[in-house]
Amino acid sequence: MKKIIIAIDGHSATGKSSTAKVVASRLGYLYLDSGAMYRATTLYFLKHGVSLAHKADVLRALEEIHISFEPTAQGNTATFLNGKNVEEEIRSMEVSNYVSAVSALKEVRQAMVAQQRALGKQKGIVMDGRDIGSVVFPHAELKIFMTASARVRALRRQKELQEKGQSVSFEEILANVQERDHQDSTRSESPLLKVEDAIEIDNSELSFNKQVEKILQLALAKING
Ligand code: CDP
Repeated sequence: MKKIIIAIDGHSATGKSSTAKVVASRLGYLYLDSGAMYRATTLYFLKHGVSLAHKADVLRALEEIHISFEPTAQGNTATFLNGKNVEEEIRSMEVSNYVSAVSALKEVRQAMVAQQRALGKQKGIVMDGRDIGSVVFPHAELKIFMTASARVRALRRQKELQEKGQSVSFEEILANVQERDHQDSTRSESPLLKVEDAIEIDNSELSFNKQVEKILQLALAKING
């Protein structure tokens, strides 16, 4: 059967990752979370006090950063930074507050995009992020652009953090969601945008399952068409 690349881009906390994961598993495809790579890089920068203003330091740090996705004993896939499972740590508010500044750097993006393209070489992949359909895989057979209102997204993110035992105020999360939207859409390097051939899905009032079904239908039409 023909294998395709599915690119899912969109605003933060639109459920891109959860959706991409289910779509990939239903198709027997590989799922890749590009945001986790930017988050792992951000964690490394925070831990090592890498200054974004010093390009030489940034480049040196990037050479030290090795990110992989590996299965865990619980049967999930987790993000590993230099051999250590950082899946939990990269979802903290500290990382969320800094990640858009780190991912606005040209040097960071070049390093990540090169790794992402290498990972996607064999097709049969679902990748989610901000620039997957525009920069990483401009020839992806199916491109989805996911959005929802900022309030709905902040509520979802708050619930997610609460389930992990982190209590963060709704106002702080809403401010983070809005600030990241702004930074991601206005940066000069690969800004978040909906490319012409992407299909937009606003899921403010669409259930998770309906959204997955919709994307699966679109994918099957491409695979069989
Ligand atoms: O899950 P959530 O939407 O909160 O974000 P994420 O996918 O984990 O990505 C975190 C941040 O990384 C985004 O706000 C972007 O600043 C950056 N990012 C990016 O620049 N390009 C990507 N392909 C993926 C993420």
